Amino acid sequence: MPTPTMSRRSPDQQRAKPKEIKKKVMTEGVILEFVVDNKQGVMPDIPQSDYGSCIMNMPLIQHQLMTTDEDRAQIQQINQRIKNDIDMARRTDDAKNVSAHQTDFLFYKQSQGVNWVRQVAFSFVERIIDLNRWKLYPVDGWGIRYQKGDRTKKHAHWPHSWAFVYFVDCGDDCSPLEIYSEPDPAIQQTLDLAREHDKSGQAIPASISYQRHSITPEPGKLCIFPGWVPHEVKEQQSDRARYVVAGNIAQIAIQPQGIEVNVDGYISGKA
Ligand SMILES: [Fe+2]
Repeated sequence: MPTPTMSRRSPDQQRAKPKEIKKKVMTEGVILEFVVDNKQGVMPDIPQSDYGSCIMNMPLIQHQLMTTDEDRAQIQQINQRIKNDIDMARRTDDAKNVSAHQTDFLFYKQSQGVNWVRQVAFSFVERIIDLNRWKLYPVDGWGIRYQKGDRTKKHAHWPHSWAFVYFVDCGDDCSPLEIYSEPDPAIQQTLDLAREHDKSGQAIPASISYQRHSITPEPGKLCIFPGWVPHEVKEQQSDRARYVVAGNIAQIAIQPQGIEVNVDGYISGKA
């Protein structure tokens, strides 16, 4: 039973705020610098020696870009051009995850509209990051058209720091973007190895999880989430095509302190 108190609280006196709980593990995330196995052209525009990444646990950024009539008029035109660009593009088969008409990962170089999405996504991340501590690179940007029966298997974009998805054209009966809370096994492995080998003193959690989201497709909607977050597009049931632009943003510590790991999450020897 709580002890009754004799002290009186005047009506305008505010209740004491609950004591702030300080977590042992920093919520901002774990800094893991790694070397990139760049032989397969994963990050072709970024020098291997200059590439690193970090695990951040930032909430989902979800934004409808068409907020005014003027925006709507302009962005609908951009979306139409992106659709045409994706339709005209040569299909790049990604048997690993995507079963749909997907362009080259560097498609932003051919499509001004895709490049616009990439830059808008970059500007959102740029606003929430301390640029005294981090460098940001917009890595890539591509397009995907899902037709009935198409899908993307559950996957994550790690070692990229951030991933984005922009809905270009779709109906609300198109497959949602499913975002899961459980981390990809590769991320768990990276955390396990980092806890064992990291000497920088940073707090490394035993595991990491995200908020579950099921995002309804809507033209003009931009979603940005950390690259370690698993996501999926279940089989498209609608006859209406579902066009999206996707891409990655790299966030690299200016003064790296973490261990070096390769893209598969293995320690590369500089622990
Ligand atoms: Fe993805």
